[in-house]
Amino acid sequence: MDKPRKLFIKTYGCQMNVYDSERMAETLGAQGYVETASPDDADMILLNTCHIREKAAEKVYSELGRLKELKTAKPDLKIGVAGCVAQAEGAEIMRRQPMVDLVVGPQSYHRLPELEAKARGGQKALDTDFPEEDKFDRLAARPKARRGPTAFLTVQEGCDKFCAFCVVPYTRGAEVSRPAPRVLTEARDLVDRGVREITLLGQNVNAYHGAGVDGDWSLARLIHALAGIDGLERIRFTTSHPNDMTDDLIEAHGTCAKLMPYLHLPVQAGSDRILKRMNRAHTAESYIRLVERIRAARPDILMSGDFIVGFPEETEADFQATLDLVEEVTYGYAYSFKYSTRPGTPAAERAQVPEDEKADRLQRLQALLTRQQRAAQDAMVGRVVGVLFEREGREAGQMTGKSDYLHAVHVRDAGVAPGTLAPVRITGSGRNSLAGELAV
Ligand code: 5AD
Ligand code: SF4
Repeated sequence: MDKPRKLFIKTYGCQMNVYDSERMAETLGAQGYVETASPDDADMILLNTCHIREKAAEKVYSELGRLKELKTAKPDLKIGVAGCVAQAEGAEIMRRQPMVDLVVGPQSYHRLPELEAKARGGQKALDTDFPEEDKFDRLAARPKARRGPTAFLTVQEGCDKFCAFCVVPYTRGAEVSRPAPRVLTEARDLVDRGVREITLLGQNVNAYHGAGVDGDWSLARLIHALAGIDGLERIRFTTSHPNDMTDDLIEAHGTCAKLMPYLHLPVQAGSDRILKRMNRAHTAESYIRLVERIRAARPDILMSGDFIVGFPEETEADFQATLDLVEEVTYGYAYSFKYSTRPGTPAAERAQVPEDEKADRLQRLQALLTRQQRAAQDAMVGRVVGVLFEREGREAGQMTGKSDYLHAVHVRDAGVAPGTLAPVRITGSGRNSLAGELAV
């Protein structure tokens, strides 16, 4: 057999890209590639890119610029661009950076073997179609050995919501759900390989409506079925849209013990005028009522969210409404961003908020969110929480894992193996993590 070729993948952006990178590595593994941690000894370098914010495309071009030296020294090296920048830019990438051999959009990863062969044969390989066939069917062919007790599992992809700021409906395409039996098979397979926690992924995961044996299944139904898998201890899902938070899913947070008490439910803004201009189809009030219902089902749930400041036409009063909403909801985690113009989206054409105004608002919002995050973390001290241990910590004898609420927890002299789920008494709250001791 030929010596295996080496593959280096650099992943940008969201968790779905992390999942996709794993699947691409598996698919190319079947073509004789093994992964390497260093670009210097790679035969193929793949950049799995993100287009959600900022000058993402420019970042990719500068990374490609840095790879030029490597390519000159090693002309056989193949360079590919995958992900949402590949989808958005297409052949433009090869025009601007002719050393790129392969460009592949997120819906075409199952065609990588053909594309790789073409690139290896010295031709340019480009595929940014939205094909009809189920890419997951062909991608899932060869799951590789797992490294840790947690895994991502994509169950839904794409989005039909068309928020006015967002590129996702254009780069990932229309909303598609994977059939429930396939998800269950992949989950069982992961559990057989030592996985104890699965995070179900989708751009709009709670819109999941995959085909089941008896009609379409909701995300709640899927979660209940997954909870029946022996050895699977924890289930999470991300990211959700408020308007798809159905009654059965809210209820599942109260009834399904394996569903963790953490929910990422982006609201984006607190002003109804701005929410309308964002095409969010919910109000601040309806969101707040929704969170109340979720908390009624699971009182200790930790809420997390996404916020955009400086969306076109946002006034100081609109921004104040966002601060008010944050005060009212109280978040345990949050991600906040300055609005970033995305070519081709409706908001790109509108009156923009000056950059210094955006920066000022972001700083004020983040100060509030950071205070809330700290308070939620500090409130864990003295409590006993479940921790799934993932790996050894930095200090000798220390083990590190995640709590039910997704806080990082370090335990000294834990004496447990990775993959152990154990109750831990929280004894301290540090900058970004908790300290604790086994409570058994
Ligand atoms: N500018 C800033 N933030 C954005 N997001 C999506 N598009 C943009 C944009 N154009 C944020 C949203 C979303 C998260 C994944 O990224 O808050 O929930
Ligand atoms: Fe983008 Fe999420 Fe809105 Fe869909 S729901 S358009 S992915 S922000």
